[in-house]
Amino acid sequence: MFAARHLRPGSHAVVGALRRRGRDVWPLHRRGADLGFVVAMDRTMPSVAAAKRRWDRSEPVFLPGILDDAPEFHERAIDASLRMFDRLRRGGRFLDEVERRVGDDPDLRYAGSTKDRSDPREVERVFVDAEPGGRKEAEDVWAKLAWIANDESDASLRIRFSAGKEQLEEWMRSTDLTASWVDRFAQRMFPECAAVLRCEPLRQMLDAMIARPHRLSERIVYNNAPDGGAVFHHDAEPGQIGVIFSQLEGHTAWLSLPKERLAALVVRAGARRTRRAAMEALDAGSDERLWRLLNRDAAFCAQLAARGALFVLRAGDSIALPSQSIDRVAWHSVFALGSRASLAHSYGLFPRRPDYPMAADPRHG
Ligand SMILES: [Fe+2]
Repeated sequence: MFAARHLRPGSHAVVGALRRRGRDVWPLHRRGADLGFVVAMDRTMPSVAAAKRRWDRSEPVFLPGILDDAPEFHERAIDASLRMFDRLRRGGRFLDEVERRVGDDPDLRYAGSTKDRSDPREVERVFVDAEPGGRKEAEDVWAKLAWIANDESDASLRIRFSAGKEQLEEWMRSTDLTASWVDRFAQRMFPECAAVLRCEPLRQMLDAMIARPHRLSERIVYNNAPDGGAVFHHDAEPGQIGVIFSQLEGHTAWLSLPKERLAALVVRAGARRTRRAAMEALDAGSDERLWRLLNRDAAFCAQLAARGALFVLRAGDSIALPSQSIDRVAWHSVFALGSRASLAHSYGLFPRRPDYPMAADPRHG
């Protein structure tokens, strides 16, 4: 059985019947696109061996309930983060929130804030230097608050933690010591990071799937608002092995599958003649018709769901998205579900080098 079932737009009689039977049925909407409904189905945790097989095939790995009771355990921090995002949505200053959360941190020193006026989604970026014991260990460590979509109707926000100049993608070359301070900044801003990092079953699953020392970095805190989410994309950045996304409050729906399988469905839908051409078109991202097929076509969504590519995440669930290479990568598309903005953490998975201090990881700290 698949993790979720798709229902066509207008399936109100079926939706009503399922709800009367106590099933969770959600409208699948994003920025004016009506893709029907999604019903949560199979929530069986895969075995470690099955998860690893999926990972190695660049399939998304759905890990229902893996965080166990961590969302309840970290409820105060999670509620505080949701209230913070509500203040920010109403125009509150991000710098004030950073100050409130880490203003008295003994290691982090405020180093300025900027707004990139050429990026309509960026709200504010706050920089800190890491100076434990008065000795500078990392600089240009930042948190950036941004709207997720360049669309007035979508109130979704996200905060990304990184270092260096984003346009030059300096984070790809930064040392693991700098990365550790980016990670610690995220952890100290959002104590609920521990719900993910201290989750031993999740960490063991990642250990088995990745099968090499790794760190959970380039963290993004998501506040997906109703009607929001992310269109189809991949996260195959150089050096990044994959992404682990964890739902801490509320729900999201996901369409995700390996690029090759997505390309095969693009061919089947008649948008390209060969899988190779479809993969190239996915990379180019410049074909408006293909974009609409991927992101606004309920029949195509049904095709994806019929192949097990649809998932519903609730608080306590994670999904791992492998990215072995630009062609061996889980493409994905996200939908906010429900009537309130939710909270989720997404961490990039990177090979860990010896200069990453183990104490920066709450699993060991
Ligand atoms: Fe992504």
